[in-house]
Amino acid sequence: MENEAGIIIRLATEADIQPAALVVAEAFDEYRLLFGDDISTVARCTVPLLEAVGRHNLTVAKVEGQTVGMLQVMARVDFARSRLRGIGSVWRPVLGWSGVVRALLGLAPMLLLFLGRPVRRDELYIATLGVRPAWQRRGIGRTLLNHAEELAKRQGFEALLLHVASHSAAARSLYARVGYIVERVQRPPLRHRIGVDHYLLMRKVL
Ligand SMILES: CC(C)(COP(=O)(O)OP(=O)(O)OC[C@H]1O[C@@H](n2cnc3c(N)ncnc32)[C@H](O)[C@@H]1OP(=O)(O)O)[C@@H](O)C(=O)NCCC(=O)NCCS
Repeated sequence: MENEAGIIIRLATEADIQPAALVVAEAFDEYRLLFGDDISTVARCTVPLLEAVGRHNLTVAKVEGQTVGMLQVMARVDFARSRLRGIGSVWRPVLGWSGVVRALLGLAPMLLLFLGRPVRRDELYIATLGVRPAWQRRGIGRTLLNHAEELAKRQGFEALLLHVASHSAAARSLYARVGYIVERVQRPPLRHRIGVDHYLLMRKVL
């Protein structure tokens, strides 16, 4: 579906995983802290993370044939199903075992967030939302969020839930603007490894 701004939002195909990973690598400082400074390496290491959550949960935003944004959601059931399979085959040759351990320690705070407040059955969780820096401030993030709302309503969820890192000013401003409310502040252990002071858990009732 293409909107009036020329943004096409659609479910990812197999061929979209790599470009979506590149969006994440460019958009998130945290992923470069996990996997290093080389963007294509960061993208390669991000692929197993996107695959763990599942392609059926991945939406891409395309403009002029380019993948410029991505959104990945998770229902409660997806947390139990997700499996990180690329550690040995993808991460180890690129990062070495010490790099794998560093990356896992970097991911730990994000995983620990759910121990404090698991996602409920009636909530759809926004796992990742990213827009390539060169394409930001053109309405793509907002369009992807609107899409998540439609998706959630269609599937019978009653609320959307997400975490945002304290330093992500653009994201915090976007979420507040479209009606997300801060439910709690979370400070998981090890968060400083990825430069995060705290996370805000934000929720929007549909
Ligand atoms: C957050 C992000 C997805 C927003 O995407 P985007 O396409 O630039 O957002 P939009 O153009 O749709 O902006 C919608 C509104 O959000 C707010 N906003 C977006 N970027 C902002 C910024 N840099 N500063 C302040 N407000 C901002 C504004 O209210 C904006 O509306 P306006 O342009 O009419 O003023 C993008 O900045 C990004 O990928 N950031 C890095 C990754 C990240 O933090 N993701 C969220 C993780 S939870």
